[in-house]
Amino acid sequence: MRLGAAAAERLVAAARAARARAYAPYSRYKVGAAVLTRRGAVYAGCNVENATYGATLCAERSAIAAMVSAGDGDPLACAVVTAGPRPGAPCGICRQVLAEFAREMTVLLVAEDAQGRIVGRRSERLSRLLPQAFRLRH
Ligand code: THU
Repeated sequence: MRLGAAAAERLVAAARAARARAYAPYSRYKVGAAVLTRRGAVYAGCNVENATYGATLCAERSAIAAMVSAGDGDPLACAVVTAGPRPGAPCGICRQVLAEFAREMTVLLVAEDAQGRIVGRRSERLSRLLPQAFRLRH
């Protein structure tokens, strides 16, 4: 499904706001993410690092957890905002977690500079970022 311009802007704005709240004292690489669901709700998340490093939570999974915790599902799109100059792409674990809910969702990848100006942007389909995602066959 193609995402309208207004919906995309709303989603990117939510991801940028979440990025500003990221807890990333170790890597200093702040990430914000937001998912838009079919019912029109937006759920945002940021990366939450940990002194053990391995317990770090990525922004995309944080946004998905907010969606599920709110009792919602069916995400149509996910925006991910990172530092530039080029947008970062979701890690493998986050691709798999996003694919659990919608393999064909639109993924908007946005980069901003230190002043918060958008310096890079591209759009991907999740099925292209993660072909042949794992599915548990019941
Ligand atoms: N990170 C994300 O939040 N999402 C990704 O898809 C890739 C990595 C975070 C985890 C860690 O806090 C920091 O970026 C550096 O890896």
